Amino acid sequence: MARAMALLWACTSILVTTGVVADNIGVNWGLMSSHPLHPSIVVRLLKDNGMKKVKLFDADPWAVGYLAGTGIEVMLGIPNDQLKTMANDYGAAEDWVKENLTRHLHDGGVNIKYVAVGNEPFLSSYNGSFTEYTFPALRNVQKALNDAGIGDKIKATVPLNADVYESGSNIPSEGAFRSDIKDPLTQIVHFYKEQGCPFVINIYPFLSLYQNTNFPRDFAFFDGGHPLNDKNVQYDNVFDANHDTLVWALKKAGVPDLKIIVGEVGWPTDGNKFATKDNAKKFYDGLFKKLASNKGTPLRPGKMEVYVFSLFDEDMKSVQPGNFERHWGIFTFDGKPKFPMDFSGNGTDKPLVAAKGVQYLPKQWCVYDEDAMNQQALPSQMSWACSHADCTCLQEGSSCFTGNTNFKISYAFNSYYQTNDQDVEACNFEGLGKIVNEDPSKGTCQFPIRIKSAGERLSLAYGAIAALVFLASLFTMV
Ligand SMILES: *[C@@H]1O[C@H](CO)[C@@H](O)[C@H](O)[C@H]1NC(C)=O
Ligand SMILES: *[C@@H]1O[C@H](CO)[C@@H](O)[C@H](O)[C@H]1NC(C)=O
Ligand SMILES: *[C@@H]1O[C@H](CO)[C@@H](O)[C@H](O)[C@H]1NC(C)=O
Repeated sequence: MARAMALLWACTSILVTTGVVADNIGVNWGLMSSHPLHPSIVVRLLKDNGMKKVKLFDADPWAVGYLAGTGIEVMLGIPNDQLKTMANDYGAAEDWVKENLTRHLHDGGVNIKYVAVGNEPFLSSYNGSFTEYTFPALRNVQKALNDAGIGDKIKATVPLNADVYESGSNIPSEGAFRSDIKDPLTQIVHFYKEQGCPFVINIYPFLSLYQNTNFPRDFAFFDGGHPLNDKNVQYDNVFDANHDTLVWALKKAGVPDLKIIVGEVGWPTDGNKFATKDNAKKFYDGLFKKLASNKGTPLRPGKMEVYVFSLFDEDMKSVQPGNFERHWGIFTFDGKPKFPMDFSGNGTDKPLVAAKGVQYLPKQWCVYDEDAMNQQALPSQMSWACSHADCTCLQEGSSCFTGNTNFKISYAFNSYYQTNDQDVEACNFEGLGKIVNEDPSKGTCQFPIRIKSAGERLSLAYGAIAALVFLASLFTMV
């Protein structure tokens, strides 16, 4: 009896704590963080929240290994800086498949379904650096998959940003591939058709609003305002309109039936006046309701497959696109849910399950010492802190913007101190910093305490990535 009760209790507690996410919704798991969560904690979080698909940006075997035996479907990634090698050397593609993919395919291994070859390599801001390598790299990777005998189950694809197509007056039927990449992209989509690969597209309604403050607000969400009429087809949100602009571009390229997956869609919560938790919640509520209805878009009715961007905030991302770029997470960097979400889309909000077993650095903060001598060093110290740690929350429209000047200096000092693992030296600032044991957070402005490092392996990997990025930037400069 006691055992039966215990069993019953176990079953109910699983039902209560485990969220259920529909099998057509996945999440992006990025690692551009100074203090990433340990992969075992992340995989537990995915399971606790009932997430069934995850998309990665690389293939670090240490992290991927934790997905073994979970059944979670995985899209592995090959970073852009490896495209040239993959394009020029079929052996490199073969080695990649062997080292990063087939080793995980044993019984009880990892459920790998896709390989993302590069990430948005045709982004206008890359100035064409990857244009000539992308298609040959894709072809080599898919060939390596085919030669390994797994090409029928595992497909290569190049996740692209919606800036690969354009439409003169934002009318979907005028959609066509951007002229500078029309040729390689046409080759790619015909290759997809021949090999059965999906087209993976990243769509950002937030950016429509961010880039154009006159953009009709309700059109960025799913509220049904500002309908757009395109040859008697009605659009009531920019997500559908953008998606169908791609459908038109594919039609014009001669592949009207290609499968489309939305590789990234989401809404940031800080760093801009439109990037708020309220707006993010509103956006996801509308999106999930739409996905649950299986209505699809006007030109592609039916079930859609999408990956939410993103799982966590990442403080090492470039802010070149905007200050919001480090705040895309549905969880904070340390795995705390930001707001309840309705992944089922049926109108029931559920709190997401937070990361378990997170280990924090001690409860201490670095703040500005107003009584210190040497106040003339302040500007240089402040700018040092913000160029080596995240200060995006201090910008206009962000969570710490309204604080007074001294409070903002404290925020910057603390950010630098935490990023440097609370090293005493990192709170010196030529005598202007002091360590305190009381949380200086106020109102919306949180002074986070960083978590203990995820371990040697990851930081080594970051070192290597940083070095590669640095080398790559040298090459693009010459
Ligand atoms: C496997 O993936 C890792 C992480 O993305 C990468 O550093 C490594 O070079 C890859 N291995 C091969 C043989 O390409
Ligand atoms: C692309 O070109 C712009 C303007 O010439 C430059 O500012 C930017 O750094 C370049 N980006 C890359 C990745 O080369
Ligand atoms: C909505 O979905 C949740 C979780 O999948 C489920 O528990 C709940 O009963 C559903 N509610 C309705 C009204 O269908």
